[in-house]
Amino acid sequence: MDISSFILLLFLSQIPYPCSSVTYDYLLKGSFLSVEKPSDVLVSANGDFCAGFFSVGENAFSFAIWFTKSSNPTVVWMANRDQPVNGKASRLSLLEDGNLILSDAGRVTIWTTSTASASSLQLQLLNTGNLVLRTSDGVFIWQSFDSPTDTLLPQQLLTEDASLISSRSRSNYSSGYYKLYFDNDNVLRLLYNGPNISSVYWPDPWLRSWEAGRTTYNVSKTAVLNVTGHFSSSDDLKFKAADFGMGVTRRLTLDLDGNIRLYSLDEVLKNWVVTWQAIMKPCRVNGVCGPNSLCSYDHVLGRTCSCIQGYKIQNPNDWSTGCESEFNISCNSSQFRFVMLANVEFYGYDKNYKQNSTLQECEEECLKMCGDCKGFQYKFDPDPSVYSCYPKTLLLDGYYSPDFDGDVYLKLPKADISSDDKSDKEVMLDCHGEVLQLLSRTYKKTQENRSLKILVWFASALGCVELTCFFLVWCFLFWGRKNPDKAVHGYILAAAGFKKFSYAELKKATRGFSEEIGRGGGGVVYKGVLSDHRVAAIKRLNEAAQGEAEFMGEVSFIGRLNHMNLIEMWGYCTEGKHRLLVYEYLERGSLADNLSSAALNWEKRFEIALGTAKGLAYLHEECLEWILHCDIKPQNILLDSNFRPKVADFGLSKLLNRGGSDNMTSRIRGTRGYMAPEWVYNLPITSKVDVYSYGIVVLEMVTGKSQTNLLTVDGGGVIGQGGLITWVRDKVKEGATRKVSRIEEIVDPMMAGKFDMAKMEVVIRAALQCVEEDKDARPTMRQVVEMLLRRDWEDEHSMTL
Ligand SMILES: *[C@@H]1O[C@H](CO)[C@@H](O)[C@H](O)[C@H]1NC(C)=O
Ligand SMILES: *[C@@H]1O[C@H](CO)[C@@H](O)[C@H](O)[C@H]1NC(C)=O
Ligand SMILES: *[C@@H]1O[C@H](CO)[C@@H](O)[C@H](O)[C@H]1NC(C)=O
Ligand SMILES: *[C@@H]1O[C@H](CO)[C@@H](O)[C@H](O)[C@H]1NC(C)=O
Ligand SMILES: *[C@@H]1O[C@H](CO)[C@@H](O)[C@H](O)[C@H]1NC(C)=O
Ligand SMILES: *[C@@H]1O[C@H](CO)[C@@H](O)[C@H](O)[C@H]1NC(C)=O
Ligand SMILES: *[C@@H]1O[C@H](CO)[C@@H](O)[C@H](O)[C@H]1NC(C)=O
Repeated sequence: MDISSFILLLFLSQIPYPCSSVTYDYLLKGSFLSVEKPSDVLVSANGDFCAGFFSVGENAFSFAIWFTKSSNPTVVWMANRDQPVNGKASRLSLLEDGNLILSDAGRVTIWTTSTASASSLQLQLLNTGNLVLRTSDGVFIWQSFDSPTDTLLPQQLLTEDASLISSRSRSNYSSGYYKLYFDNDNVLRLLYNGPNISSVYWPDPWLRSWEAGRTTYNVSKTAVLNVTGHFSSSDDLKFKAADFGMGVTRRLTLDLDGNIRLYSLDEVLKNWVVTWQAIMKPCRVNGVCGPNSLCSYDHVLGRTCSCIQGYKIQNPNDWSTGCESEFNISCNSSQFRFVMLANVEFYGYDKNYKQNSTLQECEEECLKMCGDCKGFQYKFDPDPSVYSCYPKTLLLDGYYSPDFDGDVYLKLPKADISSDDKSDKEVMLDCHGEVLQLLSRTYKKTQENRSLKILVWFASALGCVELTCFFLVWCFLFWGRKNPDKAVHGYILAAAGFKKFSYAELKKATRGFSEEIGRGGGGVVYKGVLSDHRVAAIKRLNEAAQGEAEFMGEVSFIGRLNHMNLIEMWGYCTEGKHRLLVYEYLERGSLADNLSSAALNWEKRFEIALGTAKGLAYLHEECLEWILHCDIKPQNILLDSNFRPKVADFGLSKLLNRGGSDNMTSRIRGTRGYMAPEWVYNLPITSKVDVYSYGIVVLEMVTGKSQTNLLTVDGGGVIGQGGLITWVRDKVKEGATRKVSRIEEIVDPMMAGKFDMAKMEVVIRAALQCVEEDKDARPTMRQVVEMLLRRDWEDEHSMTL
């Protein structure tokens, strides 16, 4: 469960909302449900759902359907989410003419089904959560399933006319800015529909529909989640719950944070568990932090927003309005300079695009553009291997990610940045940190202005729709012109063809599992050649304890992780008791195989340390489910032909030892010498265990000495106080007290003194911090990446070795 839904539950738990004593199975013509009687609710025959007045604020109610089996009621539908009614005299009435109306304070109709029927009718809540108006011959003349709010229940059709719209905030159920809908080209998309700007962010807007696995040809525009947890849409989008199968209660919800998630109910804990989600990187959702701000994500804090330098927050209670500049942009170029934000991307709104541009050319271009250029993106285009320049008119949807290979240069007045300490200027706030405001609906005697108000409201709603259309068309044209080719923008495409293999196929590929290339991590690895001639590393897992469905859920999750410093998974096999994983094969083998190679010079060692840190930072911070590696060692860091590192065997800790709720602590995992003290002392296991192991690996790379060997030589000291760490730390201390550098004595003689002293100091310092006994003293992997990326090593003399 992510943090936001956890907080959501916390919040909801403050409103006691039982589905009170069963009073109605159905409602007949001429009768009504009153807001004043909490017992006036319709209950489904199975008792899972209730329909009635739901409190959405002080003296404010919406007619809603909610799910009762979760520890807190989960609202799945609302009739009047945007216009709550008064807590006095409001009712839902089924009129004699067949119309169902919701009236506020007894007078004004807030909502109606606009139905008419001369025959007898009943309003009934079905076991599926569908509220229906049913005639005596069983025909539904109206059903709530036709007008979803933010949730789709199993068997409910999502259609062109029935899209999902997120709630405004945790405390406000009214229509928010995110929308899941079928677009004009028949593709199901996610749209950020903010007050001033609309943009589509899923599927990735720079992909053509077919590249995103969608088709535009089927005009039926329908999608459905079936009872076994399979979602299928007419645009060919298909996915399934990690726990797919019968007998699980599920819902698909467009959450506040702009992500769609499929949830399953944990029948024991009575909470919702995410079993699928559309967006893996929470900061890629548009409109999160508003203009001129940066989104960053971390599994502890969740998503956070901060203003960029030179800008200040507009409304501290609502990040969607973003930040405003503290200066005026003029055309006098001598008054401006540029400030780099490393690993930051601002998406879109490129006023221009210049391939193969130097930094200086790009700065000049931006200065020439005066107020039209707020800064520029400067990034490497792998094809054709040049740097490119993207001046930005707007700084929107900015995010920081250690694995993004590009920087942003902000245009700022020279005067403003003389004080270089910008960190204290940044405001860090939770993106959803809006204050809880209670809606008040006081009973008013004079209601005559009401209908006028509704009319005005309706007119402005129409106006918004028009504005949205305008913006959409504009974005479309803009994009169409500026991005003739997605390769120009050079973004990562999702790996194609993650596949399920049959056991026979893999047996053939490995020629009967004949060529063993590695062991450990729960299985034996064989080299094989797939039918399409790709060379693969095929891992056969020892334990088959995990059920097939669970295994497939985990594997497809791991298979979707794409990062240049993570080994790519091509597929898997699960057949009977066989569980196999198919990975790309790297000719050069592991870091362990190469540590004593003369080819491993200082530059390569540094790149390996940096790449490994980026891969782990991605695992720890970019993924919702927060994968711990738990077995970092040189054997698990593979090298490609250019000595670029790729972390292997991640996610295995999840695949192998599932089953108990205490799965993380029940068994010590990892490899002697690389294991953090937490394992030994039975302390909680967090991502810091990987940080520790990483630190050991870096120390080994720098010194050329093996931690495991030293341990054995020393007679096996307690892990954590092990030989290598003590040895390096002592040298550093000695250097500091005598004010002489001991670095030469630490560094691997293989490098023959050829290394960058300033960088080396940074690397050793980072590694020593990683292996601190106290997990809280260790940095996160992201902080390690930042330390290694600091470009001002030359100025650093704080550590004397
Ligand atoms: C749900 O959909 C999947 C895939 O389309 C299908 O295999 C399965 O049989 C369906 N389940 C039911 C109960 O219809
Ligand atoms: C279009 O999609 C619907 C719903 O998924 C499906 O039943 C139908 O067969 C599709 N039509 C074509 C021509 O593929
Ligand atoms: C929308 O634009 C108006 C006028 O430019 C501005 O005042 C307002 O703050 C903007 N709203 C947001 C949320 O950016
Ligand atoms: C920006 O320009 C406006 C109008 O010209 C002026 O009132 C304001 O003080 C200027 N702001 C700064 C920070 O110079
Ligand atoms: C540009 O700014 C500089 C420094 O503030 C000033 O000396 C110069 O006169 C300005 N030039 C113009 C054309 O305004
Ligand atoms: C990039 O520009 C430089 C200098 O203008 C030129 O020498 C080089 O060939 C260009 N590279 C490409 C790939 O166009
Ligand atoms: C909920 O959001 C809507 C739309 O932004 C706003 O008009 C309304 O006042 C909000 N309600 C509360 C209780 O904040």
